[in-house]
Parts: sequence; C-alpha cells; structure tokens
Amino acid sequence: MSVNILNGKQLAQRLRMEMKDEVDQLVQDGIKPKLTVVLVGNNPASLSYVKGKEKAAKEAGILADVIRLPDSTSEKELLRLIQQLNEDDTVHGILVQLPLPEHIREQLVITAISPNKDVDGFHPVNIGKMMTGEDTFLPCTPYGIMTMLDAYDIEIEGKHAVVIGRSNIVGKPVGQLLLNRNATVTYCHSRTKNLKQYTEQADILIAAIGKANVITKDYIKKGAVVIDVGINRLEDGSLTGDVDMEGAMEKASHITPVPGGVGPMTIAMLLKNTIDAAKGLNR
Ligand code: GUN
Repeated sequence: MSVNILNGKQLAQRLRMEMKDEVDQLVQDGIKPKLTVVLVGNNPASLSYVKGKEKAAKEAGILADVIRLPDSTSEKELLRLIQQLNEDDTVHGILVQLPLPEHIREQLVITAISPNKDVDGFHPVNIGKMMTGEDTFLPCTPYGIMTMLDAYDIEIEGKHAVVIGRSNIVGKPVGQLLLNRNATVTYCHSRTKNLKQYTEQADILIAAIGKANVITKDYIKKGAVVIDVGINRLEDGSLTGDVDMEGAMEKASHITPVPGGVGPMTIAMLLKNTIDAAKGLNR
C-alpha cells in the first residue's frame, strides 16, 4: 500500500485563491475585510508567524494591520488597545499573537476580545459554541486539520482518533471537533503512561507535541492517517515535525509533511474566519 501525502500547501493555495474572489465580491459590496494583529515583544517564532499571516492576508485582498508593542507594555495598556479595536467598525478580526510576556494574563486578554472579532476562536464564548456544535469561529489549526481531512475524503465517523497534546490552541479543540464528527477520541499528553499502547490503536493520529521526530513507526498502526502538527527547528536550521516521516511512511495510509502540511492550512483558516467576521457571520 502506498502512502498518500496530504498536501496542505497546495490545498491552502487553492482555498486562498477562492477566498480572494470572495473578498473581491465583498469589496464591490462596500465591505473591506480587515484583520488587526497585535504582537507584543520580540519572540522570533511569533515574528515569523505574524509576517506569514500578514502576507497571506494581503495576498487575499484583506487589509492587514500589525500593531507591534514593546515587551514592557502593561496588561492595562493592552486591554485598552483591545477595547479600541473592539469599538472600531473598520476592524473585523482581532488576533493577539501568543505567547504574551509573563506579566500579562493571557486568558484575560483573550476574553477581552469581542467574540464577534475573535478570528482565533479562543474566546470562551466561541469555545463553548464549538463544544455544543454551534457555528462559530473555530481555532485555525484544528479547523485547518478538519478541512484537510474533508478535502481528502477521509472518513471520521466511528474512527478512533488519538490526539497527543492538550493545548487550548490545538490538542483540546481538535479532539472536540473530531468528537463532533462522531470519532471516538482519546487524549494523550506528557503525563500519559505508555503512550504507544494508545497510539498504536489510532485510525487517525494527531501529533501536537512540539518535539522533533518522537513519533516513530512503532507508534503507528498500519493504514493510519497521521497528522503532524509539530513545527520544530533543528540545529541546522531545517524544519521538522513531531513524526519521523520516513519511518511513518512505511505504515501510514495518509500523512502530512512538515513543512507544507498543517502550517499553511492554519493561515488559510485565519483568512476564512476574517472573511466570515467581515460578513458578520458570528453575530
Ligand atoms: N501562537 C501560536 N499559534 C497561535 C495561534 O494560532 N494564534 C495566536 N494568536 N497565537 C498563536
């Protein structure tokens, strides 16, 4: 059995072209979608992610404004800025890049963003809606994973999905979205004992660990769909996922590469959420 590579880069490009047409139509109707990204401090990975988001938004015809603030910004100042952006009718989507400096309470900041402009899908109101299966902004990486599974006609219902990782950004929401689609979901994490005993039963394996190449072929059931969310930079500067791709390809039926798998889908879904926000779909 040969492995199918889930080409997130190509799929994201196609979606972004379709979205550009949608944006052009909105502009003709007098609505100019606008995303404001707030970046506090100089975290190099965050800087690079924000640049990627800004570039993709602009290419799709979405106005992208990046507000850069120093590390010394107080929580109060950041909350005041968010209030201004909430009240600014020209801004449809607000994204505060995480992580924030330690003196700022992340959850307080996320909750301050209007749920109608929460294109990250991190606001507790939107997370609640996701859990009850209502339409809302979905967190971009989980949304990208689900869109990719659907684009490649991968069956979810009745499958055993094993999620490794329990972050609020990826692990928890992707497990919930798979559950909403009638998968049987197991969550594993850093304290899980004997990880392999779970992963080798996975029809769909989602690796969101953040450690290079730790999921070797021994962890993978023959014929599994393997989704690699990890983006790890090696000493030589190259990027690699959480999954040892070469070994995994001997076992998996489908696998996402790194780079060019989940990453580009995450950005595409941010644009989708911004367009939906501009259309007023989450009010
Ligand atoms: N940091 C890492 N991933 C994300 C994301 O999806 N959104 C935000 N706001 N910050 C992040």
